[in-house]
Amino acid sequence: MAKFLRRKNEGDKMARGLIPQEIIDEIATRLDIVEVINEYVRLEKSGRNFFGLCPFHNEKTPSFSVSPEKQIFHCFGCGTGGNVFTFVMQIEGLSFPEALEKLAQRVGVSLPKRELTEAQKELLEKKQKKYKLNLAVSKFFHRLLLETSWGKPALNYLKKRGIDIATIEKFQLGVSLPQWDGLLKYFTQKGVSPKELEELGLVVPNNSQTGYYDRFRNRLMFPIWDEQGNVIAFGGRVLDDSQPKYLNSPETSLFHKGKHLYGLHLAKNSMRSEDMAIIVEGYMDVIACHQFGVTNAVASLGTAFTKEQAKLLMRHTYQIAFAYDADLAGSKATLRGLDIFSDYGCQIRVIKLPEGLDPDEYLRKYGKNEFNKLVLNGMSLIEYKLVKLMESTKDNSILSKTKIVQKIIPDLLKMDSMVARESAVKLISEKLDLTETTILSELRYFAQQQQKLPQNQDIKYKKRENNPKQDFPRNKINRTEAQLIKILFEHPHYLIDVEKAGGKELFTYPLQQLFEEIFEVFQEKGEVVSTDLSTGDNSKLLAMVLMQEFRVPDLEKAVADYIKILKVNKLEKEYLDKQNELKEAEKLGDGERLKEILSHIEWILQEKRTLAP
Ligand code: UTP
Ligand code: MN
Repeated sequence: MAKFLRRKNEGDKMARGLIPQEIIDEIATRLDIVEVINEYVRLEKSGRNFFGLCPFHNEKTPSFSVSPEKQIFHCFGCGTGGNVFTFVMQIEGLSFPEALEKLAQRVGVSLPKRELTEAQKELLEKKQKKYKLNLAVSKFFHRLLLETSWGKPALNYLKKRGIDIATIEKFQLGVSLPQWDGLLKYFTQKGVSPKELEELGLVVPNNSQTGYYDRFRNRLMFPIWDEQGNVIAFGGRVLDDSQPKYLNSPETSLFHKGKHLYGLHLAKNSMRSEDMAIIVEGYMDVIACHQFGVTNAVASLGTAFTKEQAKLLMRHTYQIAFAYDADLAGSKATLRGLDIFSDYGCQIRVIKLPEGLDPDEYLRKYGKNEFNKLVLNGMSLIEYKLVKLMESTKDNSILSKTKIVQKIIPDLLKMDSMVARESAVKLISEKLDLTETTILSELRYFAQQQQKLPQNQDIKYKKRENNPKQDFPRNKINRTEAQLIKILFEHPHYLIDVEKAGGKELFTYPLQQLFEEIFEVFQEKGEVVSTDLSTGDNSKLLAMVLMQEFRVPDLEKAVADYIKILKVNKLEKEYLDKQNELKEAEKLGDGERLKEILSHIEWILQEKRTLAP
């Protein structure tokens, strides 16, 4: 019977529990982290470790290190780190089971097929059937376009717009028949029921409920895919100026408008290699971008940009460029998208297209090089907001300038980096012709006002949770705890001593959670290796801890000393807490409580004396 490791830790670690630990171990022991990472990052040996340029942040000198002994990676620059599983998850944007599957294949270990219930199997089969039908429909439209006389007008239209055959193939463009029942007839003759077609939004019941008619007629057809490349919906464009210009599939069990991005399955690899995603508005913009070699473009398809869409992109890159139309709708959509990404800690730029041109038109008029220049010169979030605010303000008075500054301050305060904030202040002062001192004093005033509001703590906290790039700040990590954990990891039999001395109570956030998991694994397996740790924070923390260099001449004594220091730290913290409680009790005049606290303080002091005489 396979043993399953149970973890208290929440979240993505759940998935781990579904796979027998022995199999995870087997895969881990067959893998070499240096070999795996070397396929993504050029590594060079230096001393006992390998170094390279961090793939998770921009840098010019290598601070990304991989340890073959410990089978971990850690970046001294951005603080990220982990084991071979978390590396593949992070770099490929995979979930734990997906990464495991990929690595299992590599080393020739087969994962047990998860047993599905009958109901799950049925659901899965139904879904597969739907994907298959959608694919058949997209092929039907595509063949009509390329191989029949029905396709001629659409093909001419595409030619007129400069779309070449390779692009037609890449995007599987097609055309729908002009009849009311062209698709219906074709597929029902092949044995597909009208109901199935209706479920995919391909046909619509008629008014008298006696039958169905085709949703898409006489339109240029664009299949819409999910990230894996399954056809999930369609868009159809008229070939003339009639309305509506585009007709899209309704929401179905496969297609939820705000949860997909057009072209993502074709763009995701370049997003990674270029470390940037370009978001455009429409089908034709994505298609033109790809034809011109800008292959990291996706479209939000005219809907309000959603958090789900942002998360889809953030699996591949944190650098996002918006290339929406310069019209009002476009700039509103841009602003909304900007706020979503900036709250997630992404780096954003807004590409400034000349009025009236969309990316498709711009590329055709000026070409790829000019477009790339626009991308490089894109505006930062602050600059874009500033420009928008200045456009909406007519007069040039000090009062309206101050108002603009006040509106932009929340965005300044959100910035994590001092350097970025400083250059933003400089930019604002230049654009508005105000001194930097004026802006800084507004900033300070605003920050003070904010601190008086109770919800401010909340905002900060939320931000940290949402921000995928945020690491544990190094200064938050207690050095003694970190060094002790390194020793415990390398010599786990000392875990027993630490547990006896108070265990997790000796540690503070965030290393307390790491200690807990190490101890748990040790209890279950009798040993701990880096790949045992659940994904996410703990493996990152472990990598950081293990990469510390320090010398311990006498291990036995060191462990005893560390325990002592942590005990004293804990007592000192307790002492401060009690002092505060004491003040409270004094204020309330609670004599009983006072006595209680005083005796506790007495105890703390005594304990401290026995530890550090
Ligand atoms: P655009 O009007 O900018 O279309 O709408 P476009 O992509 O540039 O197409 P061309 O160049 O005129 O052929 C942007 C997106 O908004 C959605 C579509 O997804 C479109 O690509 N849209 C627009 C609709 O869904 N319905 C419409 O009637 C119009
Ligand atoms: Mn267009």
